Amino acid sequence: MTTSDRSQTNGCAISIQTMSGQERFLAAAARQPVDATPVWFMRQAGRCLPEYRALRARHDFMTVARTPELAVEATLMPIDRFGVDGAVLFADIMLPLEGMGVDFDIKPGVGPVIAKPIRSSADIERIRVVDPEEGTPYVLDALRLLRSGLGERAACLGFAGAPFTLACYLVDGRSSREYPRTKALMYGEPLLWHALMDKLSDVTLRYLKGQIAAGADAVQLFDSWLGLLDAETYAANVAPYTGRIFDGLRGLAPTIHFSTGTVQLLSLIGQSGPDLVSVDWRLPLDEAWTILGPDTGIQGNLDPTLLMAPWPVVQVASIDILDRAGQRPGHIFNLGHGILPETDPDQLSRVVELVHGRRHS
Ligand code: CP3
Repeated sequence: MTTSDRSQTNGCAISIQTMSGQERFLAAAARQPVDATPVWFMRQAGRCLPEYRALRARHDFMTVARTPELAVEATLMPIDRFGVDGAVLFADIMLPLEGMGVDFDIKPGVGPVIAKPIRSSADIERIRVVDPEEGTPYVLDALRLLRSGLGERAACLGFAGAPFTLACYLVDGRSSREYPRTKALMYGEPLLWHALMDKLSDVTLRYLKGQIAAGADAVQLFDSWLGLLDAETYAANVAPYTGRIFDGLRGLAPTIHFSTGTVQLLSLIGQSGPDLVSVDWRLPLDEAWTILGPDTGIQGNLDPTLLMAPWPVVQVASIDILDRAGQRPGHIFNLGHGILPETDPDQLSRVVELVHGRRHS
């Protein structure tokens, strides 16, 4: 705790205990009391900021990601502008694929594109399981630089794509609505599927351990396309692998599971072992907490499209989320999915002010 806020009441100075952003984030992640709910936004380091667009006008995406000074510059933009409690490293879930020997490109307006999608057992055998020091040294360098530049302002957040979501890109080759080839492999070729998931979990666990050693205070596992699955399929084909990753990270740093459209999987996701579960807007936060139980924290859950509405609408929705959390330990305020590019950054500043302004008693 640091005592930094001083205010005048009836002529006498009183001091209010305030936490740094890093302390606030880590206390909530450990389900301990906080002075105010911590807040950050998924995809805050790119997308909606004019200063990010100016940086991207000078350098392409991969140059920013591969140059630690530029990646840290992009990471710090939302910290300076919004005063959020978490600084998510500017990187992408696709970066570790390079070290695995998988060629990909991030095409503007399209997203990730894999040169030669993984479809056969020979393709899977060729995937290299490497440590991040070899595969993505620039990500670790960026985290070290970020951790030293950030101080206590915010928690330094590392992340990775979860094995299922990475498999969706590897097998289908690019963004899709249904990932039909991936699901066909999962249903039709179980031996290949488990061999692929095994390798992807191994690389992902090494990658996240490396990020924590380089200075990440917490890590988030993005399983963006999990909403395509029913509970039985998830339990048999995906949960054992994310569970192995969370088990491997226990005691090293807090872990956050991300997915969207997964009400049908929520209790199984909680059982897979993350410290916090990111939930989207499809379920009110208190109902999600009833399903997850009190031993799991919750991150969420404002609908990012709501930020397009006038401020009073956003204000009511944000207060509703805080009321449903009811100052229970373990809540980190966030959106239910990433910021949309057309979002007015001032809306995000106002949300941070509102969330931090509601002090916990
Ligand atoms: O934005 C940030 O806060 C920076 C970190 C970050 C990026 N990607 C940078 C990025 C994070 C956390 C991600 C995660 C990511 N990447 C996910 C999981 C989150 C989610 O939204 O579900 C996924 C599925 C990807 C894959 C990916 N990378 C896509 C679909 C795209 C294209 C469209 C887009 O912007 O999301 C990318 C490219 C990408 N990753 C960009 C950025 C800033 C845009 C590149 C550019 O500036 O041209």
